[in-house]
Amino acid sequence: MKTQIITVKDPHDSPREIASAAKTLRNGGLVVFPTETVYGLGGDATDPLAAKKIYAAKGRPSNNPLIIHISSPEEAEQYAVTSEYYYRLAEAFMPGPLTVILQKKDTIPLEVTGGLDTVAVRCPSHPIANSLIKAAGVPIAAPSANISGRPSPTSAQYCISDLDGKVDVIIDGGECEIGLESTIIALRSDTAVLLRPGAITYDALCCVCPHVELTDAARGTLSDNERPMAPGMMYRHYAPSAPFILLDGPREAFIPYIIARRAAGECCAAICSEQEASLLGNENTVIYGDPDDLEQQARRLFSAIREADSLGCTAIYAMKPEPVGLGLAMYNRMIRAASHTVIEIN
Ligand code: TXA
Ligand code: MG
Repeated sequence: MKTQIITVKDPHDSPREIASAAKTLRNGGLVVFPTETVYGLGGDATDPLAAKKIYAAKGRPSNNPLIIHISSPEEAEQYAVTSEYYYRLAEAFMPGPLTVILQKKDTIPLEVTGGLDTVAVRCPSHPIANSLIKAAGVPIAAPSANISGRPSPTSAQYCISDLDGKVDVIIDGGECEIGLESTIIALRSDTAVLLRPGAITYDALCCVCPHVELTDAARGTLSDNERPMAPGMMYRHYAPSAPFILLDGPREAFIPYIIARRAAGECCAAICSEQEASLLGNENTVIYGDPDDLEQQARRLFSAIREADSLGCTAIYAMKPEPVGLGLAMYNRMIRAASHTVIEIN
């Protein structure tokens, strides 16, 4: 398949490109598009065949359900059973980086939900995503636009390297603002369960829902043989080919630790701040942001993991983030990329 790559800065300036990508979706094709979190690999969420194509292109097990993307919170009515708490969450956080799991209606085929009777609903704030959903006139089922097991793509370049030749269209809309996938919350009749932490933090959710349960999978403490509530949290994820190791201890101990590993002959890559990179001589370092700028670190985390992996080192080191607020979302991704390998330093 020849993949068409189109660049869109502002969807209002590119109505023909958006209309053509929307037509591809309506005809059962696959379109990669930017969102404020990460790029999505989209297909018509009402079409079981499109769902099958998504699983095939990604190399993803078909029992791992897809998120459906809508252009306004009210559209959820057509596809799911909503509730008072859904609308409270929608008012506070939609459009934005929040996914809510609800009971599904028959309009969404079981192929999309991996056989579950629930459906994940998200209303993205990115203008390209929003225009594309509106123009398509159907909800868009979209997992992150990476090959299964690789870090989620935060720029079109990574979508191209993973999916060129496997999808009809890739819309290049620049770098994603947030860089980590949406927060996922499951709503039951009387409880809310946080399945995946993201830029909408646990504390922010607690301001809207009186009781939010934090799962072990969200905390990053789920052991390998336990079954998470979001099937996707079960799979080895974001895994670089070189071992990725988290270092836990005072930040000042980071540079001396890397220098000692290198002195011992290890070819190690460090994911760190600009200042730390210069102290390490900039060799085999990837900058993801300042220690006190979590938003910047989150935005660059996945690209940093990909870049560090491309250096061909035998190990990749990063400091363990403090698992609170946005740090919990980072920790959740990093601990799985590290297959739970944490080394204490001091
Ligand atoms: O930010 C995001 O959420 C991105 C962008 C493209 O919107 N999408 C994304 O999709 O990260 P994906 O498929 O890579 O991750 C969705 C997660 C998976 O872990 C999946 O198992 C879980 O959501 N999920 C989807 N539907 C579910 C359901 N009905 N019940 C429980 N978990 C569900
Ligand atoms: Mg994913």
